Amino acid sequence: MRSWSFLGVLALLLVNESSAFKAHDFKTCSQSGFCRRGRALSARAKEAKSSWVSPYSVDPSSVHISPNQAVFTAAVQSSLYPDIKFGLEVRIQDDGVARVRMDEVGGLRKRYDEAAAWALISEPVVSKDIKWTTGKKDTRAVYGDKKDIEVVVAHQPLRIPLLRNGKEQVVINGQGLLHMEHFRNKIEPATSTEEPAPEPEEGAEGSGESQTVLKVENPRAWFEGDTEDALFEETFSSWTDSKPKGPESLSLDINFPNHGTVYGIPQHATRLALPTTTGSDPAFTDPYRLYNSDVFEYLASSPVSLYGSIPLMHAHSTESTVAVFHVVASETWIDVSHSSEKSTETHWVSESGILDTFLLPGPTAEDVFKQYTRLTGTPVLPAHWSLGYHQCRWNYVSSDDVRTVQRRFDEDDMPVDVFWLDIEYSEDHKYFMWKDKTFPDPVEMTNDVAVNGRKMVVIVDPHLKRAQDYPAFKQASELGILVKPNSGQGEYEGWCWPGSSSWTDFFNPAAWDWWKSLFKTEETPGKWSWTKSTTDIHIWNDMNEPSVFNGPEITMPKDNIHYGGWEHRDIHNINGMLFSNLTYQAVAERTDPPTRPFVLTRAFYAGSQRFGAMWTGDNLGTWEHMAVGVKMVLANGLGGLSFAGSDVGGFFGNPEPEMLVRWYQVGAFAPFFRAHAHIDTKRREPFLLDEPYKGIVKDILRLRYTLLPVWYTAFRETTTTGMPILRPQFIMFPKDKAGFEIDDQYYIGSSGLLVKPVTEKDVREAKVYLAEDQVYYDYFTNVAHRGSAKGKEITVPAALDQLPLFIRGGSILATRERPRRASSLMKRDPFTLRVALDKSGSARGELYLDDGVSYDHIKGDFVWREFVAETKKGKKGLRLSSVDLGKAKPQEAVDGVALATYNPQNSFAESVLKDVRVEKVVVVGLSAKPASVKVEGSSEELVWEYTSGVASNEKKGGKASVLVIKDPKVLVRKDWAIVIQ
Ligand code: NOJ
Repeated sequence: MRSWSFLGVLALLLVNESSAFKAHDFKTCSQSGFCRRGRALSARAKEAKSSWVSPYSVDPSSVHISPNQAVFTAAVQSSLYPDIKFGLEVRIQDDGVARVRMDEVGGLRKRYDEAAAWALISEPVVSKDIKWTTGKKDTRAVYGDKKDIEVVVAHQPLRIPLLRNGKEQVVINGQGLLHMEHFRNKIEPATSTEEPAPEPEEGAEGSGESQTVLKVENPRAWFEGDTEDALFEETFSSWTDSKPKGPESLSLDINFPNHGTVYGIPQHATRLALPTTTGSDPAFTDPYRLYNSDVFEYLASSPVSLYGSIPLMHAHSTESTVAVFHVVASETWIDVSHSSEKSTETHWVSESGILDTFLLPGPTAEDVFKQYTRLTGTPVLPAHWSLGYHQCRWNYVSSDDVRTVQRRFDEDDMPVDVFWLDIEYSEDHKYFMWKDKTFPDPVEMTNDVAVNGRKMVVIVDPHLKRAQDYPAFKQASELGILVKPNSGQGEYEGWCWPGSSSWTDFFNPAAWDWWKSLFKTEETPGKWSWTKSTTDIHIWNDMNEPSVFNGPEITMPKDNIHYGGWEHRDIHNINGMLFSNLTYQAVAERTDPPTRPFVLTRAFYAGSQRFGAMWTGDNLGTWEHMAVGVKMVLANGLGGLSFAGSDVGGFFGNPEPEMLVRWYQVGAFAPFFRAHAHIDTKRREPFLLDEPYKGIVKDILRLRYTLLPVWYTAFRETTTTGMPILRPQFIMFPKDKAGFEIDDQYYIGSSGLLVKPVTEKDVREAKVYLAEDQVYYDYFTNVAHRGSAKGKEITVPAALDQLPLFIRGGSILATRERPRRASSLMKRDPFTLRVALDKSGSARGELYLDDGVSYDHIKGDFVWREFVAETKKGKKGLRLSSVDLGKAKPQEAVDGVALATYNPQNSFAESVLKDVRVEKVVVVGLSAKPASVKVEGSSEELVWEYTSGVASNEKKGGKASVLVIKDPKVLVRKDWAIVIQ
C-alpha cells in the first residue's frame, strides 16, 4: 500500500479542488459492461422493429396456482438458453399491488435476493380472493372492488401487463428486453483470443479507460452481443473489478402505454418530469443511473447518479397515476423514452439481483403513495425541534465558537434550533472522540446550547480510522464485523477523511448492538461509549454511499465481501440506509423510554423515510443549483422521503447577499431547513449580513417558526398516508396537463399554502400558475387572485423581501406568531387562525400537536383538531368550529397506528396544552361587514375589526376583506364555535 502522505494529498485534492464536476471519476453507460450490453440489446431490438420477439416464455404446463388461489408460479425459459431454468412468481396483494418475481432456478450460483427484506417493512399480505384463470395463451387474474384491474401473464412471449378497465397501465417485457444473465463459468483463455482494446479516439466516450475486450465466438450471442464484453473482469480507470461471479445482470423493460409523464427514481439533479434519455438533449444521452455516489460538484442538470437511490417510478396521465417499484440494490441504469406523447417506455438494467418488481395500480397519486408506503413504511414523525432552523458549517472550530455563534443569533433575535458540528470536532477524524484542544468541554458546550431549548447535531461518518488507539475501530476489528476485501479474508482498507480506514459491515447482525452501544451517554461496563456526549446531541451520517477516496468511482470496490458472502455490488445502494437505520435506533435507545432521534443521512434507499432526513449533498452556490435543489426535494418526496432539503447558501462558493436571501426563502419552504458551507468558504451566518439583507433573512426565519404548526401538521399526515409534504402540481391537479411539467412551485401538505420560490438573480416579479377557478390570497397582503379552470398564470411582485406565498381559498391555517429564539420555547404559545374563504365562502384546516419529542403520541397523547368555516344551510353568517379529529378518526391519527386509547383528556392535552388558546382569528374574504361576532353559546360580543375589500366569491381580485377577531378566549384543545353574523 502506498503511503498515506501521497494518497492523502490526492484525496484532499479530489475533495477540495475547486474545479467542476469530474466526469472522468464516474462511469458513463458505455464504460459499464452490463449497461453497455443492456443498451446494445435495446438498440438491436429497435433496429429489428416488429420482428423483435422476446425469447422468454412461460411453460404452460408448469403454471401452478397455489391452493389458496393467490400465487401464480410457472417455469420460464429463454429459447436462446434452453438449458437454463427460471422461475416466475406473481402475487397479488390485498391492496391490489402485483408483485412479479423471477429468479434463475438451479443455477451455478445464487442471485442476491435480499433487497426487499431490507426495503420492506414486512412481507406484504397476499390476497386470498384472487381467481386466476389459465387459458391457452395466458393466465389472468381479475380483481379490485369493481373488478376493474387485470393482471395477465402472457405465455409466449412472456409479457405481463396490468390493465385497468381494459387499458394497459404498466407492461413488463412489452418491448422484449427482459434478460436475466445466467451464471456461467468463465471460458478458459485457451478458447479465447485476447486482444487489446483499440486505441480510443481522442475525446471519444470511454477514453482514459484501459479496457480489454475478450472476443469469443458466441453462437448464441444475444444480450451479450457478438463479443463477450466485460463478463468476467472489467477495468475502469486504474481499477479492476474481478467479477468472480461473472455476468449476472438483469435487463427489464417497463412500459406505461397510457402515461406520457414519468417522475421519481431519485436522486438526480434534473427536472421533476423526467427528461427522455434517448432523444436529442445532449445533457441526457446516458440513462438515469442509480448508484449511490459521492459526486464532487455535481452538474445541475444530468442523469448522473448522486448520493441516494430510490427505484420507484411514477407514471402519470390525466386518467391515472401508477408506479413501479423495482427492488434491486445493485447499480441500475434506466432509459426513458416516449414512443408517443401519451406513452412512456423505460428500460432498467441492473448489475445483479433477482427480478422483484411491484406494480402499483394507483389509480390516483394518493393510492400510489398508500400502496408504496404499505410496502416500505411511512415517513417517521420527526422530533418537532428538527423542523426548526439548523445552523451548520464545516466547521465551527471550537466549543467557544459554538457559544459565540449562539450568542450572535440571540443578540439579533434570530430563531435557531440546532447547531451542527462537522468532522473537525473529532481527534484525527476518530468520530465520538473530541479534539481536546478545541473542544475541551463538549458536555458543557451542549448544555449551554440545550439550556436555551436547543440541540446539537454532530457528525459520525461510517469510515473507522485504522488506529489501535481508536476503540471503535479496535472493537469492530476484534468482533470481525468489518467489510472484507475481495479475498473474503481480513479487513478492507480504503482512504477517507482519517486516512487509512475500514468500514463496519452493517449487514452483519453482530454489528448492530455494538453500534448502538457506542452512542450510550452513560458508562456501560465493558463497553466503550460516548460518555462525553449528552442526549441533546443528535447525529449526522455523511459519506455513507460509502465514499472511499481511493476507490473506484470514489466508493468501495464492487468485489468487496459483506456478511453472508454477498459482494458489495449486490448491496451497494442499500448500504448507506443500513448505516443510518442503525444510527437512528442507537440514538433513540439512548434513553428509556426512547425519544425521537434525529439522523440526517446523505445516502439513502427505498425505506430510508423510516430513519429520518436527507439532504441533497454538496451543491454549488449558484442560482442553477438553488433552482434544481427545489426539484430534487420534490422528487425525493415522490420517492417517499419527504424530510429533505438542500444546503442553504450552497455548499461550495460564497453567495452574494441577494443569493443568500433567496436561498433562505427556498430553505424555509423545504421540510428540512439547514444552512451549511464548505470549509473554504467565508463565514455567512445570517447575523453577518448587512441591512437590508439581514432584516429580510430574520423575517424569513421567523416566518418558518410562525408556520411550524403547519409543517408539523403536514408531517403528521405523511406518517399516515405517505403523501409527500411538498406537493407538485400534478398531485394537486392530476387532470391538468398544463401542470405536469411544473416543478418550481408547490403546495405544502394539505394546508393550502402555495409557494413559488424565486431562484433567479435580479427578479422582482414572479409568475405563478393557478390551475383552478379558485381564489388565492397573498399570504402577506391578502390580495386576492382568481384562478381559472382552464389554468391561468398570474404575475405577482417578488422583490427581494417578497416571497410569492399564497393561501388557497378554502384553507384554515394555524400559526404561532410570537417571535421566539427556538421552537421549544413556543410550545405554550397561543395560536392565530387564518381563515381563507373559498369562492363559495367556506374553509377547513387541521392542526396536529403533541409533545414533539417522545413516542407518547402513539398511545394517544396528542391534540388533533379540524377547523371548519361554513354557512349552515338555511342560515346566514359564518360558523367557525373546532372539531376533535382524534375522536373522529383515531385510526388515522399518526404513524399509521390504530389508536384504541385516544382520550381528549390525554396528558399532553391536559398539561402542555391546557391553557393554550386561540389569540386571534383572521377571516379573509367575507362578503360583508358582520353585525356581530360571538362564541356560540355566549352572549358576549367579541372584540373585532373589519376592513372592507374584495369578497372570496368576486372574480375581480384585489385586496380582500379582512375580519380580525381578537382573543376569542377559546382553547385549542376544546370543541367550540365562533358565529359571525
Ligand atoms: C461531505 C458532505 O457532503 C459535507 O456536507 C461535509 O461538510 C463534508 N463531507 C465534511 O464532512
